[in-house]
Amino acid sequence: MEVRLAKLGDMEGVKELLRKYHRDTISDEDRPDGFVTTAITDEQLAELIEKEKGVTIIAEPSDCGPDKVLGFCFAAPWEFWETWPLFRHMMDIIPDYEFEGKRLVLSDTYQYGPMCVDRSIRGTGAFEALFFASLDQFRERFPIMLTFVNQINKRSESAHNNKAHMETIGTFDFGDNHYFLMGICTDASEKYAKHI
Ligand SMILES: CC(C)(COP(=O)(O)OP(=O)(O)OC[C@H]1O[C@@H](n2cnc3c(N)ncnc32)[C@H](O)[C@@H]1OP(=O)(O)O)[C@@H](O)C(=O)NCCC(=O)NCCS
Repeated sequence: MEVRLAKLGDMEGVKELLRKYHRDTISDEDRPDGFVTTAITDEQLAELIEKEKGVTIIAEPSDCGPDKVLGFCFAAPWEFWETWPLFRHMMDIIPDYEFEGKRLVLSDTYQYGPMCVDRSIRGTGAFEALFFASLDQFRERFPIMLTFVNQINKRSESAHNNKAHMETIGTFDFGDNHYFLMGICTDASEKYAKHI
């Protein structure tokens, strides 16, 4: 298993995993363990991979054909996300919150997520490996990473609190959903980095 930045050749694998765990297409069996709600076009995904270097994957290398993508997480500066209504809302409210005793400044932060790990490798450390590899990728550019977790997604809440060591900064609502706003300093990647 390898944790690395995605290339354009990984796009189909990322899309397949996203389809498997997206709210609109997930199976009834998988739904209780959480789902992804963010949709992304091929053009946006290609930009995220190539321009933002914002897709980190965990993959099973293959000698014949593309590597098998078993997990991914997305991350990018807010400018990338601003056309998604939920992220636009987050951009508006973030300056109202404090983190580590200081009021948040949007330009010091970027947005991570969605994150997705195939059921076959959950609970193996794959989540942490992916999380801290992505955090490390942005360490030079931003001091703070922010994300949202839907309050009904208890597995994701537990993983982000207990395994990723993220801090719950506050809560907010958008549409009919209730979210936690979570944050972490990007230099935590040095302390907690895990290799798989
Ligand atoms: C969220 C996700 C990335 C976490 O990765 P993971 O490999 O499942 O995480 P882990 O198993 O290492 O950690 C999850 C923890 O939550 C616990 N957990 C599971 N169900 C839970 C529940 N209903 N309530 C509270 N905790 C729960 C697990 O027991 C585990 O803790 P433990 O290792 O101490 O037992 C993965 O489950 C996933 O891809 N889910 C589908 C997509 C998703 O929801 N993405 C996040 C939203 S963008």
